[in-house]
Amino acid sequence: VLKVRILLMGFGNVGRGFCRLLAEKSDYIERHWRLEPRIVGICTRTRGIAYDPSGIDLDRVLSAKDNIESLGNPGSPRFPTQEDVVAGGDYDVLAECTVTSTDGRGPALEYMKEALSRGKSVITTNKGPIAFFYKNLHELACRHRAGLLFEGTVMAGTPVFSTSVNGLAGSRISRFEGVLNGTCNYMLGLMQSGADYDKALEQAQKQGFAEADPAMDVEGMDTALKAMILSQVLMGTDVPRPEDISIQGISHVDPEVLLDAKDNNEQVRLVARGEKVGEKCRISVKPTPLAADHPLYNLPGAVNGLVLSTDTLGPVCLTGAGAGSKATGFALLHDLLSLYDSRERCRKGM
Ligand SMILES: NC(=O)c1ccc[n+]([C@@H]2O[C@H](COP(=O)([O-])OP(=O)(O)OC[C@H]3O[C@@H](n4cnc5c(N)ncnc54)[C@H](OP(=O)(O)O)[C@@H]3O)[C@@H](O)[C@H]2O)c1
Repeated sequence: VLKVRILLMGFGNVGRGFCRLLAEKSDYIERHWRLEPRIVGICTRTRGIAYDPSGIDLDRVLSAKDNIESLGNPGSPRFPTQEDVVAGGDYDVLAECTVTSTDGRGPALEYMKEALSRGKSVITTNKGPIAFFYKNLHELACRHRAGLLFEGTVMAGTPVFSTSVNGLAGSRISRFEGVLNGTCNYMLGLMQSGADYDKALEQAQKQGFAEADPAMDVEGMDTALKAMILSQVLMGTDVPRPEDISIQGISHVDPEVLLDAKDNNEQVRLVARGEKVGEKCRISVKPTPLAADHPLYNLPGAVNGLVLSTDTLGPVCLTGAGAGSKATGFALLHDLLSLYDSRERCRKGM
């Protein structure tokens, strides 16, 4: 059984969801994957840093009410800052799930660059750095023979990238159309049933779908970042520039449009469209009425959907969870297991 030491950056909805899954599934992971994942460090912004090279007790840290520092090992090396842990800690994989930024820069990007430069693999749910710096991070990972996986950046744990990169290997994807934001989907559903915008947002926040800053969701930037990732990873385009993307969110949807759509048996969704044109991708994000026979019509609650236009199979449609602690924590678990698939085992002589 291979021990894998994980440094977890961020212990919010996603970090906790990941730890819960590791705790619940440790026997299964050991039996089926011959892996023993251990969280050796957890960093937060305001609740301290816990570090224990022999592994942090997940049940204790999950029930900790506030500061987590005391759950580290007092005899282990002390790291005054989060950056120090990333640069000096003893770990194999950095699991990055801190807050996202709309330009991709900030601490998360620096953590990823530092870890990859040290030859540590990175798994992340953080859209910003991948949307803007995918190529740089990918190159850094290749140069240092490290892995870089980010399944949770688009459609939470629904396997967009593993399906496309592995399952559709040999196909060319020329276009996509997606409903990629659970909050907007949930809110538009409520609004089309008569709720006003504020009430719908309040409900989405109660359900834990909305981002810390809901403007990211409702103004369409979250969806645009996801479309930027899809265009680069699935279609190999250059990095799209946000100023070239036509972005319209849901905060000013005309109630008449919602009523008309209802009368016509249509469903209004925040749709991202991307089309490869040369090396570039033409992307738009806007509320769009969809007819009942459209594959993205029937997405209840926070469910997301994506239609890929391929040259081999025609349209391929994926639907599934688009947000939530468990679904996004699962994305990290999936990425972790993917890093240690059979090829990795062969390389390590296992
Ligand atoms: N929630 C979802 O459904 C979902 C779905 C897909 C993708 N994502 C992405 O996953 C990431 C995490 O989401 P979340 O919902 O878990 O967010 P969250 O609940 O707000 O948690 C963020 C965590 O990151 C920590 N943090 C913030 N800045 C930090 C820094 N500079 N260094 C170290 N730790 C830092 C916070 O510390 P404190 O505890 O001290 O505040 C908190 O523990 C985001 O990038 C989000 O866009 C989330």
